[in-house]
Amino acid sequence: MRTLFINIKELVQVRNEAIEKVSGKDMSVLPIINNAFLLIHEGVIEDFGSMENCPKLEYGTVIDATGKVILPTWVDSHTHIVYAGNRIQEFVDRINGLSYEEIANRGGGILNSAKKLNETSEDIIYEASKKRLDEIMQLGTGAVEIKSGYGLTVEGELKMLRVIKRLKENYTIPIKATFLGAHAFPIEYKENHAGYLDLIINEMLPKIAEENLADYIDAFLETGYFSVEETIRIMEAGKKYGLPAKIHVNQFTAINGIQACVDYEALSVDHLEIVTEADIEALQNSKTIPVALPSCSYFISIPYTPARKMMAAGLPLALATDYNPGTTPSGNMNFVVATACIKMKMTPEEAINAATINGAYAMGISATHGSITRGKKANLILTKPLTSYYQLPYEFGNNLIEKVMINGAFI
Ligand code: NIG
Ligand code: FE
Repeated sequence: MRTLFINIKELVQVRNEAIEKVSGKDMSVLPIINNAFLLIHEGVIEDFGSMENCPKLEYGTVIDATGKVILPTWVDSHTHIVYAGNRIQEFVDRINGLSYEEIANRGGGILNSAKKLNETSEDIIYEASKKRLDEIMQLGTGAVEIKSGYGLTVEGELKMLRVIKRLKENYTIPIKATFLGAHAFPIEYKENHAGYLDLIINEMLPKIAEENLADYIDAFLETGYFSVEETIRIMEAGKKYGLPAKIHVNQFTAINGIQACVDYEALSVDHLEIVTEADIEALQNSKTIPVALPSCSYFISIPYTPARKMMAAGLPLALATDYNPGTTPSGNMNFVVATACIKMKMTPEEAINAATINGAYAMGISATHGSITRGKKANLILTKPLTSYYQLPYEFGNNLIEKVMINGAFI
């Protein structure tokens, strides 16, 4: 079955060769074909080009995209969409003056979500997560990474990862599961960090590996959470089970964590609201991609990741939502792209590269997703009629998406 889009106003992020990611100055280059065609065959991109060279379709569907833009679906490489309940009260407490740290110290924060998760059945959590996934797909997300980390018990972590496994089985978009047992120390381990690390490494990980429940491993490397040494132990343990690291780091403080992540060949380092020169040097010429989460900065009023400084140093950058009940109760990648432009001063070209091809790299799927390339999956956003793709970040908060296609079929 073939689908042919014709008269596309702008076909965005077209790459003849499948590239891994874009870095530094190259991030400002977003290849586009004006007045284009795009041919899809059996869920895969077969061909594209200028309308002058548009093939005739013997059989299949022709879709006239006059005035509309087509781009690859967003790749959201950092989420926590499997959770129970919400943290609305903490949101109001912050408005009334409490900080994220103060709320966490009172037993709120991650431990609040962990309590709720352990009290809620797997089926209820699955239904809530499924609803969130359906919603973000309608908003143009066509691949997503999902973390555990609100269990913090053997059963709770397994429950979360089993929910992610069910999502993987029931959806055709790529979903990657990340084990985040090292998200916070449960109260009973507050004075016994070694005991909790032992639980993660010697009880949780073997069971997770046995059921093949995770693709990556994560830790919250932060003052008051997991130290550099503790995170190294987590990354080492993950390595033994073939789980590359994707690490939460430098959200509030810089404690030389990024160098350790690079040393352990982490696939990504995420957050980086606080970045030192040494952190930038550590990332240069490494395989580790930094991932910025601007909706988190927006929601809890913390600095934005210094994108311009990092790109000027030649680094790549990916953008993701961080969708979670505490710091980012929103999974809208369109808002992320707009906020990156408005608050981080990324150009639309840089932000779109960061949210597509570089997101795909941060999820380990850039061979199949993240650009309009022959042979890649036909996961596409078809917009409403637009002036240009600049309108996407310009009209922040407005939904400019007409339809989303996954593997060649509209959802
Ligand atoms: O990425 N920073 C650590 N983890 C999450 C938030 C966790 C929470 O508050 O529930 C984040 O922001
Ligand atoms: Fe996160």
